[in-house]
Amino acid sequence: MEALKGFRILDMTHVQAGPTATQLMAWMGADVIKFEPPNGDATRGQLRDVKDADSLYFTMLNCNKRSITVNMKNPEGKAVFVELLKKSDVILENFGPGVLDRFGFTWEKIHELNPRIVMGSIKGFGSTGPYAEFKAYENVAQAMGGAMSTTGVPEGPPFVTGAQIGDSGTGLHLVIGILAALHQRNITGLGQYVEVAMMDSVMNLCRVKWRDHQRLQNGNLPEYSVHTEKGMSYTPRAGNDSGGGQLGNAIHCKPHGPNDYIYVVVQEAVWEALARRIGPDVNQPNLATDAKFTTIGDRRKNQGEVWTMLTQFASQYTKREFMAILNDLDVPCGPIMSTEDLADDEHVRGREMYVELDHPKRGKWHNVGMPIKLSASPAKIERSPLLGEHTDEVLKEVLGFDEAKVASLKAAGAFSLPPKKAA
Ligand SMILES: CC(C)(COP(=O)(O)OP(=O)(O)OC[C@H]1O[C@@H](n2cnc3c(N)ncnc32)[C@H](O)[C@@H]1OP(=O)(O)O)[C@@H](O)C(=O)NCCC(=O)NCCS
Repeated sequence: MEALKGFRILDMTHVQAGPTATQLMAWMGADVIKFEPPNGDATRGQLRDVKDADSLYFTMLNCNKRSITVNMKNPEGKAVFVELLKKSDVILENFGPGVLDRFGFTWEKIHELNPRIVMGSIKGFGSTGPYAEFKAYENVAQAMGGAMSTTGVPEGPPFVTGAQIGDSGTGLHLVIGILAALHQRNITGLGQYVEVAMMDSVMNLCRVKWRDHQRLQNGNLPEYSVHTEKGMSYTPRAGNDSGGGQLGNAIHCKPHGPNDYIYVVVQEAVWEALARRIGPDVNQPNLATDAKFTTIGDRRKNQGEVWTMLTQFASQYTKREFMAILNDLDVPCGPIMSTEDLADDEHVRGREMYVELDHPKRGKWHNVGMPIKLSASPAKIERSPLLGEHTDEVLKEVLGFDEAKVASLKAAGAFSLPPKKAA
Protein backbone atom coordinates (compact mmCIF):
# COMPACT_ATOMS: atom_id res chain seq x y z
CA MET A 1 0.00 0.00 0.00
CA GLU A 2 1.26 3.49 -0.80
CA ALA A 3 1.94 5.76 2.18
CA LEU A 4 -0.72 8.38 1.32
CA LYS A 5 -3.24 6.02 -0.29
CA GLY A 6 -6.77 7.05 0.58
CA PHE A 7 -5.99 10.77 0.88
CA ARG A 8 -7.61 12.95 -1.75
CA ILE A 9 -6.00 16.29 -2.59
CA LEU A 10 -7.90 19.03 -4.36
CA ASP A 11 -4.98 20.65 -6.13
CA MET A 12 -5.66 24.22 -7.25
CA THR A 13 -1.93 24.97 -7.49
CA HIS A 14 -0.19 26.32 -10.55
CA VAL A 15 3.27 27.22 -11.88
CA GLN A 16 6.00 25.55 -9.75
CA ALA A 17 5.81 26.09 -5.98
CA GLY A 18 2.44 24.40 -5.38
CA PRO A 19 2.71 21.67 -8.05
CA THR A 20 6.04 20.57 -6.51
CA ALA A 21 4.18 19.80 -3.27
CA THR A 22 1.27 17.97 -4.88
CA GLN A 23 3.50 15.93 -7.22
CA LEU A 24 5.46 14.67 -4.22
CA MET A 25 2.28 13.72 -2.41
CA ALA A 26 1.00 11.99 -5.57
CA TRP A 27 4.24 10.00 -5.65
CA MET A 28 3.52 8.98 -2.08
CA GLY A 29 0.15 7.63 -3.23
CA ALA A 30 -2.36 10.45 -2.69
CA ASP A 31 -5.16 10.90 -5.24
CA VAL A 32 -4.28 14.35 -6.53
CA ILE A 33 -6.99 16.04 -8.56
CA LYS A 34 -5.49 18.97 -10.44
CA PHE A 35 -8.31 21.48 -10.52
CA GLU A 36 -7.55 23.76 -13.45
CA PRO A 37 -9.25 26.75 -15.05
CA PRO A 38 -10.70 25.87 -18.47
CA ASN A 39 -7.58 27.21 -20.21
CA GLY A 40 -5.34 25.23 -17.87
CA ASP A 41 -2.31 25.90 -15.71
CA ALA A 42 -0.43 28.64 -17.58
CA THR A 43 2.75 26.57 -17.57
CA ARG A 44 1.21 24.06 -19.99
CA GLY A 45 1.97 26.58 -22.73
CA GLN A 46 5.06 28.29 -21.30
CA LEU A 47 8.56 27.53 -22.69
CA ARG A 48 6.93 25.05 -25.07
CA ASP A 49 9.47 22.99 -27.03
CA VAL A 50 7.12 20.63 -28.91
CA LYS A 51 4.26 22.12 -30.92
CA ASP A 52 0.82 21.60 -29.30
CA ALA A 53 2.25 19.43 -26.50
CA ASP A 54 2.28 20.38 -22.83
CA SER A 55 5.60 22.00 -21.99
CA LEU A 56 8.24 20.24 -19.91
CA TYR A 57 7.67 23.02 -17.39
CA PHE A 58 4.22 21.49 -16.84
CA THR A 59 4.93 17.80 -17.37
CA MET A 60 7.85 17.73 -14.92
CA LEU A 61 5.74 19.10 -12.05
CA ASN A 62 2.40 17.39 -12.56
CA CYS A 63 3.00 13.66 -12.78
CA ASN A 64 0.61 11.11 -11.25
CA LYS A 65 -2.24 13.65 -11.08
CA ARG A 66 -5.72 13.65 -12.59
CA SER A 67 -6.81 16.83 -14.37
CA ILE A 68 -10.26 18.35 -14.19
CA THR A 69 -11.16 21.73 -15.67
CA VAL A 70 -13.70 23.81 -13.80
CA ASN A 71 -14.71 27.42 -14.36
CA MET A 72 -14.85 29.00 -10.91
CA LYS A 73 -16.44 32.10 -12.41
CA ASN A 74 -19.52 30.05 -13.35
CA PRO A 75 -22.09 29.25 -10.58
CA GLU A 76 -22.36 25.58 -11.63
CA GLY A 77 -18.57 25.33 -11.67
CA LYS A 78 -18.43 26.75 -8.15
CA ALA A 79 -20.99 24.15 -7.04
CA VAL A 80 -18.76 21.38 -8.42
CA PHE A 81 -15.85 22.89 -6.47
CA VAL A 82 -17.90 22.74 -3.25
CA GLU A 83 -18.79 19.10 -3.88
CA LEU A 84 -15.14 18.20 -4.45
CA LEU A 85 -14.14 20.17 -1.36
CA LYS A 86 -16.48 18.04 0.72
CA LYS A 87 -14.89 14.86 -0.65
CA SER A 88 -11.26 15.91 -0.14
CA ASP A 89 -8.79 15.63 2.72
CA VAL A 90 -6.57 18.49 1.58
CA ILE A 91 -6.99 21.57 -0.59
CA LEU A 92 -3.87 23.37 -1.83
CA GLU A 93 -3.52 26.66 -3.65
CA ASN A 94 -0.84 29.16 -4.57
CA PHE A 95 -2.85 31.88 -6.22
CA GLY A 96 -1.90 35.51 -5.93
CA PRO A 97 -3.11 37.23 -2.74
CA GLY A 98 -6.91 37.31 -2.37
CA VAL A 99 -7.87 35.18 -5.41
CA LEU A 100 -9.68 32.47 -3.45
CA ASP A 101 -11.33 35.07 -1.20
CA ARG A 102 -12.65 36.80 -4.31
CA PHE A 103 -14.24 33.48 -5.35
CA GLY A 104 -15.98 33.58 -1.95
CA PHE A 105 -13.87 30.86 -0.32
CA THR A 106 -11.95 32.15 2.65
CA TRP A 107 -10.35 29.57 4.96
CA GLU A 108 -13.23 30.12 7.40
CA LYS A 109 -15.76 29.29 4.67
CA ILE A 110 -13.79 26.23 3.53
CA HIS A 111 -13.46 25.00 7.14
CA GLU A 112 -17.21 25.45 7.61
CA LEU A 113 -17.96 23.44 4.44
CA ASN A 114 -15.60 20.62 5.44
CA PRO A 115 -14.29 20.82 9.02
CA ARG A 116 -11.86 17.93 8.42
CA ILE A 117 -10.14 19.45 5.41
CA VAL A 118 -6.55 20.66 5.71
CA MET A 119 -5.85 23.73 3.61
CA GLY A 120 -2.39 24.62 2.36
CA SER A 121 -1.54 28.02 0.89
CA ILE A 122 1.66 29.31 -0.61
CA LYS A 123 2.05 33.05 -0.92
CA GLY A 124 5.11 35.09 -1.73
CA PHE A 125 5.09 36.74 1.68
CA GLY A 126 2.28 35.16 3.70
CA SER A 127 -1.03 36.70 4.65
CA THR A 128 0.25 39.26 7.16
CA GLY A 129 2.76 42.11 7.12
CA PRO A 130 3.59 44.93 4.74
CA TYR A 131 4.48 42.60 1.83
CA ALA A 132 1.35 40.41 2.07
CA GLU A 133 -0.35 41.87 -0.99
CA PHE A 134 2.57 41.24 -3.38
CA LYS A 135 2.85 38.48 -5.95
CA ALA A 136 6.11 36.56 -6.15
CA TYR A 137 8.16 34.33 -8.41
CA GLU A 138 11.28 32.28 -7.66
CA ASN A 139 13.86 35.01 -8.04
CA VAL A 140 11.77 37.52 -6.12
CA ALA A 141 11.82 35.11 -3.17
CA GLN A 142 15.56 34.51 -3.57
CA ALA A 143 16.09 38.27 -3.63
CA MET A 144 13.98 38.96 -0.56
CA GLY A 145 14.84 35.90 1.53
CA GLY A 146 18.59 36.58 1.74
CA ALA A 147 19.80 34.06 -0.85
CA MET A 148 20.86 36.52 -3.53
CA SER A 149 22.71 38.93 -1.25
CA THR A 150 24.82 36.02 0.02
CA THR A 151 25.45 34.31 -3.35
CA GLY A 152 28.29 35.36 -5.65
CA VAL A 153 31.48 37.29 -4.92
CA PRO A 154 31.68 40.60 -3.02
CA GLU A 155 32.94 42.60 -5.97
CA GLY A 156 30.30 41.18 -8.34
CA PRO A 157 26.49 41.50 -8.43
CA PRO A 158 24.25 39.25 -6.31
CA PHE A 159 23.36 35.97 -8.02
CA VAL A 160 20.38 33.64 -8.02
CA THR A 161 21.08 29.94 -7.49
CA GLY A 162 20.14 27.35 -10.10
CA ALA A 163 18.33 25.34 -7.43
CA GLN A 164 14.72 26.50 -7.20
CA ILE A 165 14.77 27.17 -3.50
CA GLY A 166 12.00 29.77 -3.69
CA ASP A 167 9.53 27.59 -5.57
CA SER A 168 10.41 23.93 -5.07
CA GLY A 169 11.96 24.70 -1.66
CA THR A 170 8.68 26.27 -0.56
CA GLY A 171 6.72 23.31 -1.93
CA LEU A 172 8.76 20.99 0.29
CA HIS A 173 8.03 23.13 3.33
CA LEU A 174 4.34 22.96 2.51
CA VAL A 175 4.35 19.16 2.30
CA ILE A 176 5.85 18.97 5.79
CA GLY A 177 3.11 21.24 7.15
CA ILE A 178 0.34 19.29 5.42
CA LEU A 179 1.56 15.94 6.73
CA ALA A 180 1.76 17.36 10.27
CA ALA A 181 -1.76 18.78 9.98
CA LEU A 182 -3.11 15.43 8.72
CA HIS A 183 -1.46 13.75 11.69
CA GLN A 184 -3.05 16.25 14.09
CA ARG A 185 -6.41 15.72 12.41
CA ASN A 186 -6.21 12.06 13.39
CA ILE A 187 -6.36 13.22 17.01
CA THR A 188 -8.63 16.29 16.87
CA GLY A 189 -10.83 15.36 13.93
CA LEU A 190 -10.33 18.87 12.58
CA GLY A 191 -8.37 20.31 9.69
CA GLN A 192 -6.32 23.49 9.90
CA TYR A 193 -4.82 26.18 7.70
CA VAL A 194 -1.17 25.70 6.71
CA GLU A 195 0.49 28.80 5.32
CA VAL A 196 3.97 28.85 3.84
CA ALA A 197 5.56 32.00 2.46
CA MET A 198 8.28 31.77 -0.17
CA MET A 199 10.32 34.48 1.55
CA ASP A 200 10.17 32.58 4.87
CA SER A 201 11.22 29.35 3.19
CA VAL A 202 14.24 30.97 1.56
CA MET A 203 15.23 32.52 4.91
CA ASN A 204 14.99 29.07 6.47
CA LEU A 205 17.25 27.63 3.76
CA CYS A 206 19.75 30.46 4.35
CA ARG A 207 20.02 29.64 8.08
CA VAL A 208 23.83 29.47 8.09
CA LYS A 209 24.01 33.00 6.70
CA TRP A 210 22.03 34.15 9.75
CA ARG A 211 24.50 32.29 11.95
CA ASP A 212 27.29 34.31 10.33
CA HIS A 213 25.30 37.56 10.48
CA GLN A 214 25.24 37.26 14.27
CA ARG A 215 28.82 36.01 14.62
CA LEU A 216 29.98 39.27 13.04
CA GLN A 217 28.92 41.08 16.21
CA ASN A 218 31.68 39.24 18.06
CA GLY A 219 34.46 38.94 15.51
CA ASN A 220 35.40 38.27 11.92
CA LEU A 221 34.54 35.07 10.01
CA PRO A 222 37.93 33.36 9.76
CA GLU A 223 36.73 30.60 7.45
CA TYR A 224 35.65 33.15 4.82
CA SER A 225 38.23 33.76 2.10
CA VAL A 226 36.84 37.28 1.60
CA HIS A 227 37.39 40.15 3.99
CA THR A 228 35.18 40.20 7.10
CA GLU A 229 35.59 42.10 10.34
CA LYS A 230 33.92 42.50 13.71
CA GLY A 231 31.02 44.90 13.48
CA MET A 232 30.30 44.26 9.79
CA SER A 233 26.54 44.70 9.50
CA TYR A 234 25.70 42.02 6.92
CA THR A 235 26.91 38.59 5.78
CA PRO A 236 28.96 39.10 2.61
CA ARG A 237 28.97 36.99 -0.54
CA ALA A 238 31.80 34.49 -0.26
CA GLY A 239 32.11 32.78 -3.65
CA ASN A 240 32.54 29.05 -3.23
CA ASP A 241 33.68 29.08 0.39
CA SER A 242 32.39 26.09 2.30
CA GLY A 243 30.00 27.85 4.66
CA GLY A 244 30.74 25.31 7.37
CA GLY A 245 33.41 24.43 9.93
CA GLN A 246 35.65 22.83 7.30
CA LEU A 247 37.49 24.65 4.53
CA GLY A 248 36.34 24.04 0.99
CA ASN A 249 36.51 25.40 -2.54
CA ALA A 250 35.93 24.59 -6.20
CA ILE A 251 39.15 23.65 -7.96
CA HIS A 252 39.59 23.91 -11.73
CA CYS A 253 40.75 20.70 -13.45
CA LYS A 254 41.87 19.54 -16.88
CA PRO A 255 40.77 20.37 -19.64
CA HIS A 256 39.61 23.58 -17.93
CA GLY A 257 36.14 23.85 -19.50
CA PRO A 258 33.21 25.61 -17.78
CA ASN A 259 32.30 22.57 -15.65
CA ASP A 260 35.74 21.04 -15.20
CA TYR A 261 35.80 21.76 -11.50
CA ILE A 262 35.75 19.65 -8.39
CA TYR A 263 34.60 20.82 -4.98
CA VAL A 264 37.15 19.79 -2.37
CA VAL A 265 36.54 19.91 1.38
CA VAL A 266 39.86 20.07 3.19
CA GLN A 267 38.50 18.32 6.23
CA GLU A 268 40.61 18.53 9.37
CA ALA A 269 41.05 14.76 9.56
CA VAL A 270 42.44 14.41 6.02
CA TRP A 271 44.88 17.29 5.79
CA GLU A 272 48.02 15.33 6.49
CA ALA A 273 47.27 12.61 3.93
CA LEU A 274 46.24 15.23 1.36
CA ALA A 275 49.37 17.30 1.97
CA ARG A 276 51.59 14.22 1.59
CA ARG A 277 49.91 13.36 -1.73
CA ILE A 278 49.91 16.80 -3.36
CA GLY A 279 53.03 18.34 -1.73
CA PRO A 280 55.71 16.64 -3.88
CA ASP A 281 53.84 17.52 -7.12
CA VAL A 282 53.64 21.23 -6.25
CA ASN A 283 57.24 21.65 -5.10
CA GLN A 284 56.31 21.46 -1.42
CA PRO A 285 57.70 18.07 -0.31
CA ASN A 286 57.33 19.07 3.37
CA LEU A 287 53.80 20.42 3.07
CA ALA A 288 52.42 17.98 5.68
CA THR A 289 54.73 19.41 8.34
CA ASP A 290 54.78 23.04 7.15
CA ALA A 291 53.85 25.22 10.18
CA LYS A 292 51.88 27.56 7.90
CA PHE A 293 49.30 24.83 7.47
CA THR A 294 49.49 22.72 10.64
CA THR A 295 46.13 23.54 12.23
CA ILE A 296 42.81 24.40 10.65
CA GLY A 297 43.31 27.95 11.98
CA ASP A 298 46.64 28.16 10.11
CA ARG A 299 45.07 26.84 6.95
CA ARG A 300 42.18 29.30 7.22
CA LYS A 301 44.69 32.15 7.41
CA ASN A 302 46.63 30.81 4.44
CA GLN A 303 43.77 29.30 2.49
CA GLY A 304 44.63 31.22 -0.68
CA GLU A 305 47.85 29.19 -0.87
CA VAL A 306 45.97 25.95 -0.21
CA TRP A 307 43.67 26.60 -3.19
CA THR A 308 46.60 27.61 -5.41
CA MET A 309 48.45 24.36 -4.60
CA LEU A 310 45.36 22.23 -5.17
CA THR A 311 44.70 24.01 -8.48
CA GLN A 312 48.28 23.44 -9.57
CA PHE A 313 48.00 19.75 -8.68
CA ALA A 314 44.59 19.45 -10.38
CA SER A 315 45.88 20.87 -13.65
CA GLN A 316 47.28 17.40 -14.46
CA TYR A 317 43.96 15.61 -13.96
CA THR A 318 40.34 15.66 -15.08
CA LYS A 319 37.74 16.16 -12.36
CA ARG A 320 36.99 12.42 -12.39
CA GLU A 321 40.67 11.49 -12.13
CA PHE A 322 41.17 13.97 -9.30
CA MET A 323 38.05 12.57 -7.62
CA ALA A 324 39.56 9.07 -7.69
CA ILE A 325 42.76 10.37 -6.07
CA LEU A 326 40.82 12.20 -3.37
CA ASN A 327 38.47 9.25 -2.76
CA ASP A 328 41.52 7.06 -2.03
CA LEU A 329 42.56 9.58 0.62
CA ASP A 330 39.01 9.79 2.05
CA VAL A 331 38.86 13.50 1.18
CA PRO A 332 35.21 14.66 0.84
CA CYS A 333 34.84 15.98 -2.70
CA GLY A 334 32.46 16.21 -5.62
CA PRO A 335 33.00 16.96 -9.29
CA ILE A 336 30.82 19.81 -10.53
CA MET A 337 28.26 17.82 -12.53
CA SER A 338 26.74 19.40 -15.62
CA THR A 339 23.22 18.39 -16.61
CA GLU A 340 24.90 16.31 -19.35
CA ASP A 341 27.04 14.51 -16.74
CA LEU A 342 24.00 13.82 -14.56
CA ALA A 343 21.67 12.66 -17.34
CA ASP A 344 24.22 9.98 -18.19
CA ASP A 345 25.39 9.08 -14.69
CA GLU A 346 25.28 5.47 -13.54
CA HIS A 347 24.56 6.43 -9.93
CA VAL A 348 21.68 8.71 -10.98
CA ARG A 349 20.20 6.00 -13.21
CA GLY A 350 20.56 3.37 -10.50
CA ARG A 351 18.69 5.54 -8.01
CA GLU A 352 15.94 6.29 -10.56
CA MET A 353 16.58 10.01 -10.33
CA TYR A 354 16.22 10.68 -14.07
CA VAL A 355 13.39 8.54 -15.35
CA GLU A 356 12.07 8.09 -18.87
CA LEU A 357 8.35 8.55 -19.46
CA ASP A 358 6.06 8.56 -22.45
CA HIS A 359 3.47 11.19 -23.31
CA PRO A 360 0.71 10.97 -25.92
CA LYS A 361 1.63 14.33 -27.46
CA ARG A 362 5.36 14.72 -26.85
CA GLY A 363 6.65 11.13 -26.95
CA LYS A 364 9.61 10.15 -24.75
CA TRP A 365 10.82 12.60 -22.12
CA HIS A 366 12.50 12.50 -18.74
CA ASN A 367 11.52 13.61 -15.29
CA VAL A 368 13.68 13.98 -12.22
CA GLY A 369 12.72 11.08 -9.97
CA MET A 370 11.38 10.85 -6.44
CA PRO A 371 14.08 12.00 -4.01
CA ILE A 372 12.37 10.52 -0.94
CA LYS A 373 12.68 6.74 -0.90
CA LEU A 374 10.10 4.95 1.25
CA SER A 375 10.90 1.26 1.62
CA ALA A 376 7.25 0.20 1.92
CA SER A 377 5.90 2.77 -0.54
CA PRO A 378 8.16 3.03 -3.59
CA ALA A 379 7.07 5.75 -6.02
CA LYS A 380 5.72 4.66 -9.39
CA ILE A 381 6.08 7.64 -11.67
CA GLU A 382 3.40 8.20 -14.31
CA ARG A 383 3.06 10.92 -16.93
CA SER A 384 1.25 14.21 -16.33
CA PRO A 385 -2.40 14.46 -17.41
CA LEU A 386 -3.67 16.23 -20.50
CA LEU A 387 -5.86 19.24 -19.79
CA GLY A 388 -9.21 18.02 -18.47
CA GLU A 389 -8.31 14.40 -19.22
CA HIS A 390 -10.15 13.19 -16.12
CA THR A 391 -13.03 15.65 -15.88
CA ASP A 392 -15.74 13.08 -16.60
CA GLU A 393 -13.99 10.35 -14.59
CA VAL A 394 -13.71 12.53 -11.47
CA LEU A 395 -17.29 13.78 -11.71
CA LYS A 396 -18.62 10.23 -11.97
CA GLU A 397 -16.24 8.33 -9.72
CA VAL A 398 -15.62 10.88 -6.95
CA LEU A 399 -18.90 12.79 -7.00
CA GLY A 400 -21.17 10.01 -8.24
CA PHE A 401 -22.69 12.16 -11.02
CA ASP A 402 -24.47 10.33 -13.83
CA GLU A 403 -24.12 10.99 -17.55
CA ALA A 404 -27.18 13.29 -17.64
CA LYS A 405 -25.89 15.43 -14.76
CA VAL A 406 -22.45 15.74 -16.35
CA ALA A 407 -24.06 16.74 -19.66
CA SER A 408 -26.24 19.40 -18.03
CA LEU A 409 -23.26 20.88 -16.15
CA LYS A 410 -21.28 20.97 -19.38
CA ALA A 411 -24.15 22.74 -21.12
CA ALA A 412 -24.27 25.27 -18.27
CA GLY A 413 -20.59 26.10 -18.85
CA ALA A 414 -19.24 24.65 -15.59
CA PHE A 415 -16.09 23.31 -17.25
CA SER A 416 -15.43 25.77 -20.05
CA LEU A 417 -14.77 29.41 -20.72
CA PRO A 418 -17.84 31.46 -21.65
CA PRO A 419 -18.24 31.82 -25.44
CA LYS A 420 -16.60 34.98 -26.76
CA LYS A 421 -19.13 37.76 -27.29
CA ALA A 422 -19.67 38.69 -30.94
CA ALA A 423 -17.95 42.00 -31.72
C1 LIG B 1 2.47 33.06 -9.41
C2 LIG B 1 1.66 34.34 -9.48
C3 LIG B 1 2.60 35.55 -9.46
C4 LIG B 1 0.90 34.31 -10.81
O1 LIG B 1 0.07 35.49 -10.89
P1 LIG B 1 -1.17 35.53 -11.89
O2 LIG B 1 -0.82 34.84 -13.17
O3 LIG B 1 -1.62 36.93 -11.98
O4 LIG B 1 -2.25 34.58 -11.22
P2 LIG B 1 -3.11 34.77 -9.88
O5 LIG B 1 -2.85 33.59 -9.04
O6 LIG B 1 -2.89 36.08 -9.21
O7 LIG B 1 -4.60 34.79 -10.46
C5 LIG B 1 -5.15 33.68 -11.05
C6 LIG B 1 -6.33 34.12 -11.87
O8 LIG B 1 -6.89 32.96 -12.46
C7 LIG B 1 -8.25 32.87 -12.08
N1 LIG B 1 -8.58 31.46 -11.88
C8 LIG B 1 -7.84 30.55 -11.23
N2 LIG B 1 -8.46 29.35 -11.25
C9 LIG B 1 -9.61 29.53 -11.91
C10 LIG B 1 -10.68 28.68 -12.27
N3 LIG B 1 -10.68 27.39 -11.97
N4 LIG B 1 -11.71 29.21 -12.96
C11 LIG B 1 -11.72 30.50 -13.31
N5 LIG B 1 -10.74 31.37 -13.01
C12 LIG B 1 -9.69 30.87 -12.32
C13 LIG B 1 -8.36 33.63 -10.80
O9 LIG B 1 -9.67 34.08 -10.59
C14 LIG B 1 -7.39 34.76 -11.02
O10 LIG B 1 -8.01 35.77 -11.79
P3 LIG B 1 -8.49 37.16 -11.09
O11 LIG B 1 -7.22 37.89 -10.75
O12 LIG B 1 -9.30 37.76 -12.17
O13 LIG B 1 -9.24 36.80 -9.85
C15 LIG B 1 0.65 34.41 -8.31
O14 LIG B 1 -0.24 33.34 -8.43
C16 LIG B 1 1.33 34.35 -6.94
O15 LIG B 1 1.92 35.33 -6.46
N6 LIG B 1 1.17 33.22 -6.27
C17 LIG B 1 1.68 33.03 -4.91
C18 LIG B 1 3.15 32.88 -4.91
C19 LIG B 1 3.61 31.73 -5.76
O16 LIG B 1 3.21 30.60 -5.58
N7 LIG B 1 4.53 32.04 -6.66
C20 LIG B 1 5.32 31.00 -7.26
C21 LIG B 1 4.94 30.60 -8.52
S1 LIG B 1 6.02 29.29 -8.99
